[in-house]
Amino acid sequence: EKGTYPHYMLKEIDEQPVVIRRIVEKYRTENGGLTVDKEIIDAVNSSDRIYIIAAGTSYHAGLVGKQFIEGWAKIPVEVHIASEFSYNMPLLSAKPLFIFISQSGETADSRAVLVQIKELGHKALTITNVPGSTLSREADFTMLLHAGPEIAVASTKAYTAQLAVLSILAAVAANGKGQSLEFDLTKELGIIANAMDVLCGQKEEMEAIATEYLSTTRNAFFIGRSVDYYVGLEGALKLKEISYIQAEGFAGGELKHGTIALIENGTPIIALSTQEHVNLSIRGNVKEVVARGANPCIISMKGLEEEDDRFVLPSIQAELAPLVAVVPLQLISYYAALHRGCDVDKPRNLAKSVTVE
Ligand code: F6R
Repeated sequence: EKGTYPHYMLKEIDEQPVVIRRIVEKYRTENGGLTVDKEIIDAVNSSDRIYIIAAGTSYHAGLVGKQFIEGWAKIPVEVHIASEFSYNMPLLSAKPLFIFISQSGETADSRAVLVQIKELGHKALTITNVPGSTLSREADFTMLLHAGPEIAVASTKAYTAQLAVLSILAAVAANGKGQSLEFDLTKELGIIANAMDVLCGQKEEMEAIATEYLSTTRNAFFIGRSVDYYVGLEGALKLKEISYIQAEGFAGGELKHGTIALIENGTPIIALSTQEHVNLSIRGNVKEVVARGANPCIISMKGLEEEDDRFVLPSIQAELAPLVAVVPLQLISYYAALHRGCDVDKPRNLAKSVTVE
């Protein structure tokens, strides 16, 4: 039930801190560490390459998950859009492991790939919010998101839950290989939940950004580099699916290879800067679009902020920044859709789970 909330989407955005804390509880050991079923970790650590298969928002979570797994567990990862993979299968490695990411566990495009790779005799792990879902039943292993039912068509809490579960999987796999992280993931996820609480308390600010940048625009761009680019893809998907504003996520450096031609006076550019190693280059990209008349909205992380930034995120461990950086983008999309009179929870032409290929 949505209780006092006007929309499920807003309720589900607000639930994110609770979901992150719940995930930590569910994957926690008695001595405060994190744990994942041994058979799953064995499957991860005995594979020579991981293939993540997903659609939409879950695909965007997979892009960030690749960074966790490659960075910490040092296993190569490919992330594929399910509907592309099924008819254009890449050359597989000798010992592949497939990870299906799906909130519903019912996405037909992902299931088609699962059927194909099972026929080839490969192992599969499903990361899903729905126990007993098709993708969970048909895979060898399941990790649950524990996000509670997600009713709004636009996925919010499932995305951050997917990132949290992927981070735990990557960290435990890394530990299993004797590679320890440079930080305490349990503690960092707690800090993230607190940061999400802070952001969920700043709705007026998000609404003001939506009003300022998105109430009448025809289009909008989200730019970032490294993981900020992946969060930008998710921000753009949220905005287009519920507000019907044409929105695109771009890698900052790629703009000048064509897309910059679309920049006009007043075109909103939402730029993310949460990563120190690309901070200067993304700010350079912002200058390039501002010189062509764009209206920049820079969202940075504390420690990297500059005077003209529109919003500053609380400081958190850089690799985990997507869990926090996505929250303002979800809220900005919500308010943009609301202001434009859209049906936030049930956008046109979309279904919550896509059970046709
Ligand atoms: C976006 C959205 C969709 C789903 C996609 C995959 O907000 O909801 O893009 O993410 O249809 O769905 P699942 O995760 O259920 O496989």
